[in-house]
Amino acid sequence: MKAVLNPEAVLAKYPQSLPRYTSYPPANHFQMQGGLALREDFTAAVNVAPAISAYIHIPYCDRLCWFCGCHTKQTLRYDPVHTYVTALIREIGLWQQKLSRRPRLSRLHLGGGSPSLLQPDDLKRLRSALDATFEIDGGTEVSLELDPSDVRDGSIQGFVDFGMTRASIGVQDFDPVVQEAINRPQGYDVTRSLVVALRAAGIKSINIDALYGLPLQTMERLQKTITQVIEIAPDRIALFGYAHVPWIKPHQKMIRDEDLPDTRQRFAQSRTAAQMITDAGYEALGIDHFALPTDNLAIAANEGRLNRNFQGYTDDEADILLPLGPSSIGRFADGYVQNEPATGQYIAKVEAGQIPFTRGIALTADDKMRGWVIERLMCDYAFGFSELAERFGPRSQGLVELAERIAHEDRDGLCEVSDGLFKIEPGAWPFARIVAARFDAWLELAPRQYSKAV
Ligand SMILES: C[S@@+](CC[C@H](N)C(=O)[O-])C[C@H]1O[C@@H](n2cnc3c(N)ncnc32)[C@H](O)[C@@H]1O
Ligand code: SF4
Repeated sequence: MKAVLNPEAVLAKYPQSLPRYTSYPPANHFQMQGGLALREDFTAAVNVAPAISAYIHIPYCDRLCWFCGCHTKQTLRYDPVHTYVTALIREIGLWQQKLSRRPRLSRLHLGGGSPSLLQPDDLKRLRSALDATFEIDGGTEVSLELDPSDVRDGSIQGFVDFGMTRASIGVQDFDPVVQEAINRPQGYDVTRSLVVALRAAGIKSINIDALYGLPLQTMERLQKTITQVIEIAPDRIALFGYAHVPWIKPHQKMIRDEDLPDTRQRFAQSRTAAQMITDAGYEALGIDHFALPTDNLAIAANEGRLNRNFQGYTDDEADILLPLGPSSIGRFADGYVQNEPATGQYIAKVEAGQIPFTRGIALTADDKMRGWVIERLMCDYAFGFSELAERFGPRSQGLVELAERIAHEDRDGLCEVSDGLFKIEPGAWPFARIVAARFDAWLELAPRQYSKAV
């Protein structure tokens, strides 16, 4: 008989940390020098691709939020940022020399850290370098992550002149008690005014990031924040669970363990917030994104075109992501490559004329197949056996057998197989990472490196 889902029992049974599956294998399995070995193959792939996407990492912020899990460093002076932009321009120039043509960019995303720190003059010279190396046209989506506290007179015009078409704004939580516990003061009015100003400047698509599971974040405080986020009416909302990994990010030790909600409270927070957001007319996409039905991401999800990448969910269909800046991860059909993570060493490498790839991994046929299954589960909560066979041929039979075994042995009501489809039950969608992990052949090799699965 089919098991009935009991969320409380699932939470108790699977307390372990799991990857977020923004790549497969997850980035902690990339090998030292693995990126260097893939440099020529990656370049050859870029040279024949109809379009590529690029990610630029800005590894600086003018504040350090205690909860932050991003690769960034606080700087109170602008000089290091200016010097860093010069290195980025050098890196882009290295690609210009290496490529045999000027590839079209379908997407350009600036993340961090805080790209909103960049002053208009630096954005201008960065854009000139990009234009010299890539074709950026009216169809290119240019998105920037913005911290409202960085925005000054002239900042928005600088972003618009750079070509920004989409903005992503960090909110986390508006409650002053929570903000103090995470060292991130940020007024609701400041955030709202920024959204109004961006819209007035012609930015049509705006995302807001909110977090649950933060220290001292009660259900009431979270509900108030979500109400305020909905009032601002962004096109998209990303609702992430706070990943507490102080063994990787030592500044998170500023957050007291006893102030954190437990797993059951986190789950209740995530469900309540998700319900409020969907009640307000947003569609739930994958495990942590929401979008208005008119937004491209919602349209893509309804057409089965949602993909997962290092920024979360995307409708980008380019097969290649070019990484720029320290720690940035790139992707192509045969593997992942990652730039040197330490900013000083990254600058030294590009100044010495080297494309700064360091870590990376070449994908085996098995990785590609499992990666496709995991991406479909994280995006659509299902995959079809016939599509798997069409894509990967007879070798897919092993994974079909694994899927049937997982569904057959499921005592938690998480998944089932019917009509050639492996699917996660709708009530179990918040547990997609737990089901995806059953297809992860790398998991045993790194049991304690991830954040909570819910
Ligand atoms: C690079 S920041 C966004 C831009 C800008 N620096 C800001 O904070 O407004 C990217 C997003 O990652 C999320 N994030 C950062 N640290 C996190 C953590 N430890 N767990 C979960 N999400 C986190 C936050 O929601 C944050 O808005
Ligand atoms: S959350 Fe944003 S502003 Fe805060 S430290 Fe992280 S990257 Fe910087």
